[in-house]
Amino acid sequence: MTRYALLLVVVGCSGDPDPAGKKPPGADSGDPPTTTTQPSDTADTHEPTITWEQPAFAEPPVAADLDADDGVLHVSLTPAPNTFDIVDWQTRLIIPVEGHSYEGSHPAPTLRANVGDVVRVDVQNDLDDPTTIHWHGLAVPFEMDGVTWMRDPIYPGDRFTYEFAVQKPGTYWYHPHFDTAAQVDRGLYGALVVADPDDPPVDRELVLLLDDWREDQSIPVDADHVHGAHGAEGVWTVNGLVRPVLNVTAGERIRLRLINTSNQGYLWLGGGAAPLTVVGRDQGLLPSIESVDRELLAPGDRVDLLWTPGTDAAAPALEDWPYSLHGGAAMGDAVPLLDVVVDGDDPAATTTDWPETVRPPTPDTVAPAFTYTFQGSAHTDDWMINGERFPDITVQQLAEGETVVFEVRNLSATEHPFHLHGLHMELLARDGVAPAQYSDVDTVNLGLYETLRLRTTADNLGAWMAHCHILPHGDGGMMTVLEVVE
Ligand code: C2O
Ligand code: CU
Repeated sequence: MTRYALLLVVVGCSGDPDPAGKKPPGADSGDPPTTTTQPSDTADTHEPTITWEQPAFAEPPVAADLDADDGVLHVSLTPAPNTFDIVDWQTRLIIPVEGHSYEGSHPAPTLRANVGDVVRVDVQNDLDDPTTIHWHGLAVPFEMDGVTWMRDPIYPGDRFTYEFAVQKPGTYWYHPHFDTAAQVDRGLYGALVVADPDDPPVDRELVLLLDDWREDQSIPVDADHVHGAHGAEGVWTVNGLVRPVLNVTAGERIRLRLINTSNQGYLWLGGGAAPLTVVGRDQGLLPSIESVDRELLAPGDRVDLLWTPGTDAAAPALEDWPYSLHGGAAMGDAVPLLDVVVDGDDPAATTTDWPETVRPPTPDTVAPAFTYTFQGSAHTDDWMINGERFPDITVQQLAEGETVVFEVRNLSATEHPFHLHGLHMELLARDGVAPAQYSDVDTVNLGLYETLRLRTTADNLGAWMAHCHILPHGDGGMMTVLEVVE
């Protein structure tokens, strides 16, 4: 495993923000700079010292449960302005982020609930702007969905309590749904894990929030929505850390819950010398394990991977391959998202006891009830569904309880992650080709000029947003409403 030679440089970082001073003194010279110690007793002082050491992998904190009762997860999530730094120890670049955080923490706390729990979240809006929280991937009652279609946002200084039951195990996440592209980009997102006591046991479970950052965060978020081959902004982080190093023990079995929280960047994941072992996606565990060379993780997507490191197996790796939103594989080398060091000398854990069932996709034989056609152009920055820009849209209605097949088509020259609130969907076919097994999703990438066939059951009353999860596209109008009525 490659370990970077660690050049340890400790510099004093003044509490005075220095807009031109991304690189601290001494960063470009071989000489160790003079170390100054800065007292951290002023309110605006952050990170008194920077070390150019590869950071150790760390998970987001777990939100404290304010309720002693089993069956209730009661937490507080206060969004507020927060200044933090993204430190690229490889290039010695510091990206100062005039960001937002929940509970003063970037990354935000992970909400860990058990299936069947009631989740209660007290929000006190300490931002200068209205906000909401949306529970991405969870079917919650409409008034708890955090949208502003027929609902008010939480105004600055106001409070709101979200409350809903979590019925389906899986890897979900939360983020605002007001000025969404900008608020998510500033760091407002966290993981919501719904654990199932019947899930196959693992030795360790890790949450990985993946986000990307522009070198200059002062550029308005909407102004450069497609930047680079991935639509990514430049520097990817894992839980706010650039390429951290994770120590694992040979013989242990690790479940990783990955969430692409970037407001527009795609990840095309690879596993280095070994394929990726995919055990879950958006809506929980897959019927059977899938072993893949690459896994596309579009904004909003989740994937659960299984790692079984051992001396008889290739060391686990997580890398990002160049991917173009204008047609897939692109030129270039994979970039490591983290480094893994395997300690010990046991053989790899086996996956033979992982429960697997055969569940083929539902046959794609029903005529679609309606079609969403995604249109638009990066040149004009004009994004629409069926020729309409949100909020000037036609609401598509479904009767409670009905099951329909619908189509999502892409007539634009860029890919879009299609996301539906409140309901979940089975992917029946992609350009006429069925997936290898049953596939239950809330976010599904719509490839270039592709047509998706999706099947949903209208089992949750409400006016559900359906939109592109490249958030500047969604905010720009690529959003519509699918309403379930009595
Ligand atoms: Cu993750 Cu409508 O959003
Ligand atoms: Cu889009």
